[in-house]
Amino acid sequence: MNVLVTGGAGFIGSNFIRYSMENHPAYRIINYDKLTYAGNLENLAGIEKNPQYVFEKGDICDKHNVLRCLKEYRIDMLVHFAAESHVDRSILGSAEFVQTNFVGTSILLDAAKEIGVNRFLQVSTDEVYGSLGDSGSFTEATPLHPNSPYSATKASADMLALAYQHTFGLPVILTRCSNNYGPYQFPEKLIPLMIVNAMHDKPLPVYGDGMNVRDWLHVLDHCSAIDAVLHGGTIGEVYNIGGNHEKPNLEIVRLILKNLNKPESLITYVKDRPGHDRRYAIDSGKIQRELGWQPSYSFERGISETIKWYVNNQSWWTRIISGKYQEYYNVMYGGREVVK
Ligand code: NAD
Ligand code: TYD
Repeated sequence: MNVLVTGGAGFIGSNFIRYSMENHPAYRIINYDKLTYAGNLENLAGIEKNPQYVFEKGDICDKHNVLRCLKEYRIDMLVHFAAESHVDRSILGSAEFVQTNFVGTSILLDAAKEIGVNRFLQVSTDEVYGSLGDSGSFTEATPLHPNSPYSATKASADMLALAYQHTFGLPVILTRCSNNYGPYQFPEKLIPLMIVNAMHDKPLPVYGDGMNVRDWLHVLDHCSAIDAVLHGGTIGEVYNIGGNHEKPNLEIVRLILKNLNKPESLITYVKDRPGHDRRYAIDSGKIQRELGWQPSYSFERGISETIKWYVNNQSWWTRIISGKYQEYYNVMYGGREVVK
């Protein structure tokens, strides 16, 4: 079985490649990644010499290269992670998001249609459903209502992928998961950013009142869910994936400080993110009923292992924040407006 993983040098993609190589030793995994600021081959250290694994540097928007790869490696299944993935960056500028998340997906779909793959798994997000009030959760039937430029490009790509299934019979399956956390997450997202800042005794920039709620899914639970959908999911269907751990941001930030033995005075309230979604919660009943999948991590175990990972892997993130990404990091986190 030849599996093309796009975005395999990113956070979830690299965890998924490790997971797949362990669980499917007969598969050949081709990692197709452009290596943007978020792509890092160090995430895959130790497996690059494994004959089961191939790395192809490339852009999903490069039609000829995508098609060449699919043909050359006789791809059976495609798991599509590659994306611009950070909401804050999409607010600073959406062009890259439209290009990679929408145009790139359309190029992959066309190439997959041309060679005739067995599976095209589109990895999406619960953010396409929009924002919830104090109660309720997203089901697969919830209408799409994306609020950020990031989620709008993901929702557009989802609709295009499902249209290729309906129109051309391309074997597309879609997954929509909640916020992932775990090892190898780029320190721009909430959990790793707060861990890294706390370790440096730098301010922890909390948006608004800190009471926005996210559901947290350990990345390895996400990997097992994708694996279950890839092998047992029904073509044309959408599967929601959640961790069953809804938490306000402030609770997480406080937990991180407590764990690292740092003072709460590091918490700094900054101007709210424009259009900030208030609450996400996801109903994963369908994947649990139909495919028997369950998340295995408690949040307490997941967060404490994640904090330990960042403490023990300082060289990994130090290179990210002090090397070629410094300028980017300063743009994102240097100029936050403090409000109280
Ligand atoms: P990430 O930003 O860590 O990694 C993205 C990867 O895609 C990087 O390796 C990057 O180099 C690659 N990439 C970007 N543009 C590319 C292009 N044009 N061509 C080829 N490769 C390109 O992202 P992540 O957090 O691992 O997210 C992976 C997927 O999961 C995304 O589709 C994202 O929308 C989705 N998702 C993520 C979360 C989360 O909490 N991180 C939640 C829901 C859904
Ligand atoms: P993030 O990790 O960017 O994921 P998403 O926006 O896709 O949910 O943010 C998670 C939550 O944390 C979100 O409510 C915004 C908030 N947040 C902060 O308060 N401060 C920060 O510096 C970041 C990055 C996020």
